[in-house]
Amino acid sequence: MSVDEIYIKANIKAVHDWPKEGVVFRDITPLLQQPKPFRMVIDALTQRYINHEIDRIAAIDSRGFLIGSVLAYNLNKPLILVRKKDKLPPPVISESYELEYGTATVEIQKGSCNKGDKVLIIDDIIATGGTMMAASTLLKSQGAEIMEAAAIIDLPDLNGSTRLQNLGIGVYSLCAFE
Ligand code: PRP
Ligand code: ADE
Repeated sequence: MSVDEIYIKANIKAVHDWPKEGVVFRDITPLLQQPKPFRMVIDALTQRYINHEIDRIAAIDSRGFLIGSVLAYNLNKPLILVRKKDKLPPPVISESYELEYGTATVEIQKGSCNKGDKVLIIDDIIATGGTMMAASTLLKSQGAEIMEAAAIIDLPDLNGSTRLQNLGIGVYSLCAFE
């Protein structure tokens, strides 16, 4: 583990049995409350993607917005909002999926990207991968190519990153909790 990874992990709090019994919720609030680990996250992602061919960044509602919007600003790329159901004005397209602790639907606006656009998807965490997969389905339906799916945290035991990779989607995370 790199020094950065140790520091980032140290600033993510484990909340046991929330929001449901058996779930260990990985809370990024401490990381956001301190400039040093937050900058570390943004700087690491900026460095990784600054020389990649990316047309747009898609950030996932709501914690993904915190990272994705700053990254889009740093990389000077257009930002696509992947929002929870009924938040975006029409016309939208929707995709439903299973979460570690429930079900959800995400939406993007039609025309959010152009055919052939290389899109980087950003979220805070990959658990079952359902959210990233739903976002990728929506973006692909508009003709986009998924350049990579990136998050601060991966939970490999929930197999999300493996499921994404099996669909041909490259995955990157700054740290993992086994
Ligand atoms: C959380 C998290 C990811 C998703 C990961 O979102 O922010 O988007 O779950 O889980 P998955 O890999 O199993 O799909 P949540 O729906 O809790 O919403 P929030 O970001 O608004 O808190
Ligand atoms: N989203 C899905 N599973 C999660 C977890 N264990 N911690 C934080 N966010 C999550």
